[in-house]
Amino acid sequence: MAHRLYDMFMFETSQETWEAVLALLHPAPGERVLDVGTGTGRLAVALADLVGEEGKVFGVDVSPAMLRQAQRQIARTPFRDRIEVRQGDVRALPFADGSFDAAAVSLVLELLRPEGTAGALKELRRVVRPGGRIVLAALAEEMPYGRTLSFYLVLRSILRLAALGRPLALRRLATQAGLVARISMRRSLLRLPVDILLCEVPKAAAD
Ligand SMILES: C[S@@+](CC[C@H](N)C(=O)[O-])C[C@H]1O[C@@H](n2cnc3c(N)ncnc32)[C@H](O)[C@@H]1O
Repeated sequence: MAHRLYDMFMFETSQETWEAVLALLHPAPGERVLDVGTGTGRLAVALADLVGEEGKVFGVDVSPAMLRQAQRQIARTPFRDRIEVRQGDVRALPFADGSFDAAAVSLVLELLRPEGTAGALKELRRVVRPGGRIVLAALAEEMPYGRTLSFYLVLRSILRLAALGRPLALRRLATQAGLVARISMRRSLLRLPVDILLCEVPKAAAD
């Protein structure tokens, strides 16, 4: 039940973020695309539409309950044969090196501890082929903090809720992980700033 409510709520609030993710990732027909922290699978379905019959989308999430809801959603779409969901952690992805042309990570990285975020970006870089694309969307660390973000951070510290994500400097984190940061967009989710950043996995191997 909680996951159905979450799904309805996220569907209303996350549209702008998802549209920006899709615009920047720009999946092409035939591509293999990974959606990490797929949640209830809404973004995975939109990706499956864009990769066409020859393409494939893998949705990964750490939560079995989320994945069950995702499977129910996906089964109702005409794209069900192009989507596979798998339980997994973004910090240790269950895929071989260079398995994907592109990956999307929407509203997930801010939920991890700092060392987890760095590990996750390293993993994404590993599983996406050299020259491939990764789009990251996360709560943005804006300077100076606006009123809504300041209020949010006070609330988060009072409630001690790690489930409320911490704002991230996405471009800096991506660069530190060896990704090439390209284009970014700013969107708003519940009046909080969200950054959506297109990165490229460098062609030449580098550590
Ligand atoms: C806020 S939801 C975002 C869902 C979806 N990506 C979207 O844009 O609406 C965060 C999702 O990330 C998943 N998640 C949290 N930590 C994770 C981890 N370490 N590895 C994989 N998924 C994770 C949660 O279970 C949840 O489904």
